[in-house]
Amino acid sequence: MSQPRTILVTGGAGFIGSHTCAELLSRGHDVVVVDNHENSVPEALHRVESVAGRPLTAAYVLDVRDREALSNVFASHPVDAVVHFAGRKAVAESVRMPVEYYDTNVGGTTALLEVMSEYHVHRLVFSSSCSLYGAAAHMPLAEDDRVAPVNPYARSKWMCEQILTDVCAHRPEFTVHALRYFNPVGAHPSGLLGEDPLGVPDNLMPYIAQVAAGLREHVTVFGDDWPTPDRTGVRDYIHVMDVADGHRIALEHPAPPGLHVLNLGSGQGTSVLQLIEAYQHASGRSVPYRIGPRRPGDVPELVADGSAAADTWNWHPIRDLARMCQDSWRFQVDNPHGYRTPGVPRPATEPQATTGPIRLHATPGSDT
Ligand code: WQD
Repeated sequence: MSQPRTILVTGGAGFIGSHTCAELLSRGHDVVVVDNHENSVPEALHRVESVAGRPLTAAYVLDVRDREALSNVFASHPVDAVVHFAGRKAVAESVRMPVEYYDTNVGGTTALLEVMSEYHVHRLVFSSSCSLYGAAAHMPLAEDDRVAPVNPYARSKWMCEQILTDVCAHRPEFTVHALRYFNPVGAHPSGLLGEDPLGVPDNLMPYIAQVAAGLREHVTVFGDDWPTPDRTGVRDYIHVMDVADGHRIALEHPAPPGLHVLNLGSGQGTSVLQLIEAYQHASGRSVPYRIGPRRPGDVPELVADGSAAADTWNWHPIRDLARMCQDSWRFQVDNPHGYRTPGVPRPATEPQATTGPIRLHATPGSDT
């Protein structure tokens, strides 16, 4: 299978998307981004270019459900493969607004698949999630373990995997990887890219970071009555740089047509209290916490069996929990208010010149 050259990344300005774009660019791929910036900011893409030392081919502000706008992007670039991150991803939010989650996550995926087919693009890496395993009885979880999603976010991801199963069965020319991330955390070691949630962080690590920085008073631990060793929720945290590398390998490693489902996790379970302790050690800061009620949609434990990715790709995550906390803390310190931190200097490595015009944030068909 030929190496993909031009890769379209949907949601490329998001947390995992931006780190993946930087990885793909730095490895010589050409990258086109589409993002509606509903949960991201354009500054992330400037940082991507600074980190990679190369410019994006183009970046468009659009919603993947806008088939006409998306089609114009495919008409403007020789897309070889697509990495599809665009979507909503907060468990608790999905319980509060299920229809928006199905419309964005499922509707966005079907719109993308239609346009991909129209332009004969048949390589896709899909952002799936460990949350579709639900409240499993045993750990670690392998790809053939029972799927029992318990919240709209997880159900939307499971629906997308079922759609991809049907597409691959009906269209044998498609090669699709559904990567079931466990909990991506951390930041790029440069301190330029990281997790920059809008408003109050839904996820644990960015919330801890803001408490450590003194931006918030304490962490609320969602339940201390879970059936786990210290009674708090256990998750499998994986460094976002390892997740980004996994996407690159999914694109570069030869794979036969069909649907390939792979877990991306460290195989190590960490509780809420353990993560707080690890972050205090990495930051040298106190992270006060209080026990609160369980969060709707939460499950006790999610830990990956990552052996399928290890066997298939001869690959495994290489960054440990301490590194995740250290890199997260560096980004927090360097960017107290995320990408909206004023005056954060851009690094000296300005993007190298390219042969064509760099069109950032143009809308397809415009001449800007
Ligand atoms: C982790 C643990 C909470 C916040 C995430 C992503 C989802 C998916 C899976 C990729 C849980 C507890 C949290 C807080 C807390 N990733 N917690 N206080 O829910 O596992 O889901 O990973 O697809 O996109 O959302 O992550 O960080 O929200 O929660 O006690 O303020 O921390 O109960 O046990 P979650 P999370």
